[in-house]
Amino acid sequence: MKKRIAILASGSGSNAENIVRYFSGSENIEVALIISNKSNAYVLERARLLKVPALVIPKEEFSDSDLVLAKLRAYQIDFIVLAGFLLHIPDYLIQAYPGAIINIHPALLPRFGGKGMYGDHVHKAVVAAREKESGITVHYVNELYDAGTIIRQEKCRVDPSDTYMDVAHKVHELEYRFYPRIIEDVMKQLWPLENGKS
Ligand code: GRF
Repeated sequence: MKKRIAILASGSGSNAENIVRYFSGSENIEVALIISNKSNAYVLERARLLKVPALVIPKEEFSDSDLVLAKLRAYQIDFIVLAGFLLHIPDYLIQAYPGAIINIHPALLPRFGGKGMYGDHVHKAVVAAREKESGITVHYVNELYDAGTIIRQEKCRVDPSDTYMDVAHKVHELEYRFYPRIIEDVMKQLWPLENGKS
């Protein structure tokens, strides 16, 4: 039986799409559900085109543990991937999925993280601070924003002439290249496969 991922996303969902495509040929892992807290998020359109089931769970409903856990159970979700999800993850979810919720942050944590540091805010802050490098951080999710144990970081150069959009582009390239593989590695650690195939 394949291990089943739910991706949580609030916006465009380009990472969500990239992850769905990466696992579409996998024997052991599949993206079984996409959840958004925003009913107008473009990620829902991507889910429709990719034929992945999708649910909208608005902010008010995320505090209802029975409701959310029942939905995840109904889709037999084993692992949760955050990809541009802007709501705080409630404690009950962390307890229900120990070591099985990960997030990607578009900078090198612990710098440029925390509440309010998302999307272009991050890249603008990196450029304003005249950083020489930026990158991605994939980390476990705990009760605080962007503060769980780091799983992996990948870096890119920031040139003095780079605008925040240039940095965003470089960081997105890293996200597309590395996030699916890191998800796969973490899931293989949780559920080692006898034949080693994925
Ligand atoms: C990504 O940069 C991700 O690192 C961050 O939010 C952005 C989501 O982009 N957490 P997209 O919706 O996947 O296009």
